[in-house]
Amino acid sequence: MPVLKKLFVSSFALAGVAALLLLGGVVFNGTVSAFSGQSGGDAGRANANRLYIEGRHVFRYDTFGDEAVWGGVLGLQKAIEGSKLGGVGPGISPKQALAVGLKVDANAIPPQIAEAIKHGQVNLDDPAVTVQLLKLNAVVGVRGFFNGNQLKSVGITCAVCHSTVDDSFAPGIGNRLDGWPNQDLNVGAIVASAPNLAPLEQSLHVDEATLKHVLLSWGPGKFDPLLELDGKAFQPDGRSAATRIPSAFGKAGQNLDDWEGGWGSVPYWNAFVANLDMHGQGTFHDPRLDNSAKYPHAAAAGFGHTHPYVGEGVLPVPGQDTGLPDQVTEKLALLQAYQIDLPAPKPPAGSFDPAAAARGAKIFNGVGTCSSCHVGSLGTAPGYTAVAPSQICIDSFQADRGPDGTYVIPPLQALFTHSKRGFYHDGRFKTLLDVVNHYDSCFKLGLSAQQKSHLVEAPKSRAPTSRPRSSRHGLASRCWPGWP
Ligand code: HEC
Ligand code: HEC
Repeated sequence: MPVLKKLFVSSFALAGVAALLLLGGVVFNGTVSAFSGQSGGDAGRANANRLYIEGRHVFRYDTFGDEAVWGGVLGLQKAIEGSKLGGVGPGISPKQALAVGLKVDANAIPPQIAEAIKHGQVNLDDPAVTVQLLKLNAVVGVRGFFNGNQLKSVGITCAVCHSTVDDSFAPGIGNRLDGWPNQDLNVGAIVASAPNLAPLEQSLHVDEATLKHVLLSWGPGKFDPLLELDGKAFQPDGRSAATRIPSAFGKAGQNLDDWEGGWGSVPYWNAFVANLDMHGQGTFHDPRLDNSAKYPHAAAAGFGHTHPYVGEGVLPVPGQDTGLPDQVTEKLALLQAYQIDLPAPKPPAGSFDPAAAARGAKIFNGVGTCSSCHVGSLGTAPGYTAVAPSQICIDSFQADRGPDGTYVIPPLQALFTHSKRGFYHDGRFKTLLDVVNHYDSCFKLGLSAQQKSHLVEAPKSRAPTSRPRSSRHGLASRCWPGWP
């Protein structure tokens, strides 16, 4: 059928359907407004666009008022400024900031300054330049709060851990890649540089030397969001209890988040981390944290019942309602929408061997029994997405720090974005072959060396679970350089 005729016929058919619908509205509801007021899918689409765009803003730039703690209590801005600018110590230069894994958003730097940096005319050893970058809102996930040119406070956003850059301008400087874990970020070293660690020492009941030892044991790409709940800093074998920072994209269809099973899905964990780890000014409820045997620090501090607060410490005053505005709760829907819509990036060509991956996929779905847990394109289990530690032949230390002693089955999306610090929650397996060897002995698979070499390529090649929304939002080219 010629295209024009086809168009004509189908629009005629559509008009017929519309007329019928209109009639339905009149006949069954007695009024057409039942349909005309809310234009069905379009209202949903507009809402989805709004949630995505606002969610991206929250994810990148919102501190939830946590500067009250990072700046107000710990005094991080003073460490950044250094004594010359009215702070303390030598200050933190842009080079040092990049060295602890902080990233710089090249799009936030005006062209003249970018040119000057390129020509070596900007002193990257000068803490004053770091302060200027904060003023430009160019340091990914770190917000400066200013009075004129004077840095008054700093806060952190989700992006500090869950975004990185593509290094297009220079190493550590480029376009934002949201949802990609920052595998270089040394959270512990950054916290340890704060001038006033006393409130953290008090909340954990340790001295300064012990606190610094713990913070510096984390290393790049890792963080311990449970330390302030249970005070467990090290695994029984002496290795740090910190876990790898996971990705925060492609969350659609996933029931449980985090390495430990039983916490909850995206909106649960976002409320948890915004209130308890970032120390945002919000409200959080989870009576499971009242269990003083399991979570002694959380139970004592009332982490299961937080509220916005001001004070000298890093913890809210238990049970005290300060009447301050909640800066977290209203943003949970936006954050959730963003992390569900944000697609996992496609593995770039050359990052895996397609022929070996195709053979590996057969093993993955067959004799390897991998797909019994990493199901279909979802990559995790539909339903309850966690398993007992014994099912994957590892210890239960980290699982036991979570509510139900299990490990979440990770969906294995875009492994190329998070392979730098090893695999499994603590990065215990350095390579994918180590992972495959572990499964080979755990499940008694008896795979040959060749089968193993194929199987390692299979997870590397996995396509994203959720389709990119580029056409709908028209944003993909800005957010996802290289995305087709
Ligand atoms: C200081 C670093 C840090 C900050 C800030 C941070 N996170 Fe995380 N995030 C982590 C770590 C580490 C984990 C793993 C925790 C675990 O499993 O015990 C995690 C887990 C997650 C997960 C689960 C991912 C998965 O695959 O299971 C999501 C989603 C997430 N964070 C989103 C956020 C959002 C949204 C914010 C801001 C409200 C945020 N995070 C702030 C470090 C951070
Ligand atoms: C019984 C369920 C189960 C089966 C079967 C299973 N996995 Fe896993 N897989 C898990 C869990 C749970 C984790 C996370 C472990 C942790 O948190 O330390 C995981 C982690 C992984 C990781 C590391 C992901 C990351 O980001 O660290 C890879 C890769 C992986 N599995 C591949 C496979 C392959 C290949 C097979 C088949 C040989 C397989 N899995 C079979 C449950 C399973």
